Order: sequence, then C-alpha cells, then structure tokens
Amino acid sequence: MNAGLEQIRQEIISGAEAITTSKEAYEFRKKFLDGKTGKIGLLMREMKNIPPEQRADYGKGVNELKEWALGFLVDLDKKMKAKELQERYEAEKIDISLPAERSEQGNLHPITLIRNQLIDIFAGMGFEIFEGTEIETDYYNFTALNTPKDHPARDMQDTFYLSPEFLLRTQTSAGQIHVMENKKPPIKILSPGKVFRSDDDATHSPMFSQMEGLVVDRGITLCDLRGMLDELVKKIFGEGTKTRLRPSYFPFTEPSVEVDCSCFECGGKGCKLCKGTGWIEILGAGVVNNKVLENCGIDPNEYSGFAFGIGIERIAMLKYGINNIKLLFESDLRVLKQIND
Ligand code: DAH
Repeated sequence: MNAGLEQIRQEIISGAEAITTSKEAYEFRKKFLDGKTGKIGLLMREMKNIPPEQRADYGKGVNELKEWALGFLVDLDKKMKAKELQERYEAEKIDISLPAERSEQGNLHPITLIRNQLIDIFAGMGFEIFEGTEIETDYYNFTALNTPKDHPARDMQDTFYLSPEFLLRTQTSAGQIHVMENKKPPIKILSPGKVFRSDDDATHSPMFSQMEGLVVDRGITLCDLRGMLDELVKKIFGEGTKTRLRPSYFPFTEPSVEVDCSCFECGGKGCKLCKGTGWIEILGAGVVNNKVLENCGIDPNEYSGFAFGIGIERIAMLKYGINNIKLLFESDLRVLKQIND
C-alpha cells in the first residue's frame, strides 16, 4: 500500500484510542470519511495528479482503505454507544433493597375528629343532620328563641351584627327554629356548625363550633334528655362516666340545665382537670320552652321536647388535654401530630 495511505490508516488506529464518546466517534469518522472534507475523500480527488499508469493501483488502494476505515469506524461507533448505554444503566440502577421513602401521612384535625365522633354517636341514636347558615337574622338567632330585643340574656353572647337585622349566628340553636318551622314532630335533629362571638381568651375564640340537638315528640321529658346524655358521655369519655344536671338558665328552655360529667381523668376523686370537684361541665340543655314551640306553630299541649348545645372545642380540649383554644386554630403540626385517634 502506498505510504500515504498507510499513514492515514495508522492515524485512524492511533486516533481511535483517544475516542471516549459516540459524539467524538462521529466527528472522528467525519474527519476521514466526509465526502467533501474527509481525508480519504480528498485522496480520491488527488487521482487526477497521479500518473495514468499508477492510477489503477492508487484507486484500488484508496478504495480498500476507505472500506477498511468504514468498517473500523462503524465498529468504533458501536463500541462507544454500547459503552454509553452501559454507563447509563449503571447510573440509573435502582437498588430495590433500599427501604422505600415513606410519604407523610396526615390525620384529621381534633375538631373534625370530635365532630365526626359526635355525629356518629347521634346518627346511631337516630338523629338527622341539619346544617344551618352562618349568617342569620336577629329573629332566628334570638327573638324566636324567646330572647327578644332588650332581653337581658342577649348580654350572655357578645354578637357580631352585620346590620340591625343580620348577624353572624352566636349559637347553633338558631337551627332549632328553622327545623321546627319546616317539619312536624316527631323531630330528632343534630345541627353542627360554626358560631361567632366577640370573645377572646385562653378558652374562648371569636369563631368556634357547636352542635345543637333537638328532639320534639309527644311525651318527651327531662328524663329522656338524661338517658341520652348518659349514653353520650359513656361513648365520648368511656364506660364509667356519669352525668349530673345542675339548674341553669337559658331563655329557650324551661327548665334549663348545665350538664356535668364525672371527671374521666381522676374518676371523680378530684384532680387538676376537674379543679378538685370531680365533675366537668360539658354542655347546656333543657326542656324546650313552650314559647319557642308556639313561635314555630307547634302546640305545646300536644308536643314537648328537649334541646342541648355542645361546644366542640371545649370537648376537644378536655379530651386531648389542650389548655389553650388557640392551639386548635394555629395548625401547628407539632401539636396536631400528637392527636390521632
Ligand atoms: N345555645 C347555648 C349557648 O350557646 C347552648 C344551649 C343551651 C343550647 C341549652 C341548647 C340548650 O339547646 O337547651 O350557650
């Protein structure tokens, strides 16, 4: 073979040793085989300067070199591609023996937990759910509940008025009126929802949640209320829990009671939670006032009923040992993660 051709062959062999990627292999191939600028391509163009008697040999030599170079460089390209594929496999290798990354599991907010638990308990007792509206009229929130304007009991709840007629409901008791206006007894409803009062300290928040219960039928008495409450506290705080009724005052019930349950922390002996009394106040209740029944077109001579109102935050604070209501609204995960039942 012509010395020039051999030199190019050597150049390809030694140059190939420095090639490490398929991209370099591609450029390297072009350097020799590109039709216009490749070194072997240019040799073909030299043909005209070769003496005619040597042309056949020269052409044969160039063609052989070209064929050899093509095979060699295609091979080089294949090797580089295979190497790169292998490297990619290595880089993307998945170690299936590694422990899986766990995604964090959330849990329901304490208020939602208590709310769901109470709804379950009451639904089990046959209560239907009625959700009222957060904006109410003065009539439904107060007047129809036997609390007319200038009634001293209005001072018990500091109200956010939106206008002289409209307000943010201060109690879910407003739901009692809507239900009784629209349904004839027997009535057995539970009305959960947010309520609002201008009140703010460690145990009060301007927005909190209540659950109102109302049962109206023939012959309903305070005993029925008591029986239901006994069941309720056992289900929320545990089997041994008892109830105690203390006389109280609400305009919409007569008689009215404040309901305590025996302290589930100390079993009634007296501790920090029950402030040494053995009892914890949990809700207000009573026999529906005749005036309220009349306001809704229900004859008090034929029907009677009981009603109760529970503060959800209060139950959550008691049950989970939370001493400041703000902790229930700050959504601090360090607090919320500890409450999960
Ligand atoms: N609405 C009362 C409050 O927010 C709670 C209440 C007391 C509701 C007695 C009742 C009831 O239905 O009978 O303070």
